[in-house]
Amino acid sequence: MEPYAEVVESYRRFAAEAADSPTFAAWAAAVADDSEVLAWIRTLPDIKQQPNLVFAAARHHGVPAPGPYDALRAALLGDTGPLRATILTRATQTNEVGRLATLVPAFARFDGPLALLEVGTSAGLCLYPDRWGYRWTTDAGDVVLGDDPLLPCRVKGPAPLPDRLPEIAWRGGIDLHPVDVTDPDETDWLQTLVWPEQDDRRDHLVRAIEIARQDPPAIVRGDLVEELPAAVERAAEHGTVVVFHSAVIAYLPPPRRADFDALIRDLVGDGRCHWVSNEGKRVLPSVTATGPPIPEEHPTFVLGIDGRMVAQTHGHGRALRWTG
Ligand SMILES: C[S@@+](CC[C@H](N)C(=O)[O-])C[C@H]1O[C@@H](n2cnc3c(N)ncnc32)[C@H](O)[C@@H]1O
Repeated sequence: MEPYAEVVESYRRFAAEAADSPTFAAWAAAVADDSEVLAWIRTLPDIKQQPNLVFAAARHHGVPAPGPYDALRAALLGDTGPLRATILTRATQTNEVGRLATLVPAFARFDGPLALLEVGTSAGLCLYPDRWGYRWTTDAGDVVLGDDPLLPCRVKGPAPLPDRLPEIAWRGGIDLHPVDVTDPDETDWLQTLVWPEQDDRRDHLVRAIEIARQDPPAIVRGDLVEELPAAVERAAEHGTVVVFHSAVIAYLPPPRRADFDALIRDLVGDGRCHWVSNEGKRVLPSVTATGPPIPEEHPTFVLGIDGRMVAQTHGHGRALRWTG
């Protein structure tokens, strides 16, 4: 077996997945062929060897991106400790506001005013769907809702695109490690996690942080399964409760995912909340199974309303394929 086979494989896979960022694709491919850098990465704990985290830490310590691989290589091999410390103490915790363009059509299915409760909320940036505009590009042309900044999204299928922004009466979240939007160190790290060449995502993130700072959401620190029933009860004082999540449930071990699935279905069944899920197609099989089959090789998120699949979505909100 090739030395460091697993880490080589993970960097090669990342190089293929990072087509949206030529810099990261090139860096990952170069790492996979660089035995000295591979040896350095192998000295990290397994869960800290991920390309996203290593590259973000290097950028945090001044490696330019876009920029040449040699600068990354020199920073890693010449590190006297600070870069390694960043890798060991930080995590890849993105907060992608672009997903709102795919979530808003789901929120529009419920009568407001809404009490929005996001589990796995990170900094809570997706709790402000009413403070953004949207540009949904359909086969029949653009549908624009609200004012700048507009979040763009390509749309296929008979999506019920709303003609009014949602009315939000309350916004709150739950997260194991909430990001404090008022702490510049934490928000700088969030920005570092946006891949090079994705300037639109970075611009949106900066704007989203400004929006959240003006009216910070109520975020509870804790596990989403443990905290959910009490949080739903608190939210219910303010409006129609909509529990939602995107790119979160994959972080739970499979038995815990099943616990969450059972719990939220009970809450929905009791009429205590609605549920909007937006997760990778394999993460909540009970939701994915209610929609049309998705080809094995097709990577997609699945958008669900109250446990039933309604759409395939792009992981960062760039596309929505309504399946109904
Ligand atoms: C990839 S981020 C997604 C953040 C946000 N939902 C978005 O769409 O941008 C996943 C978040 O889930 C949180 N998380 C993971 N496991 C959790 C758990 N058991 N309970 C609460 N939050 C959790 C992480 O701390 C992280 O903030």
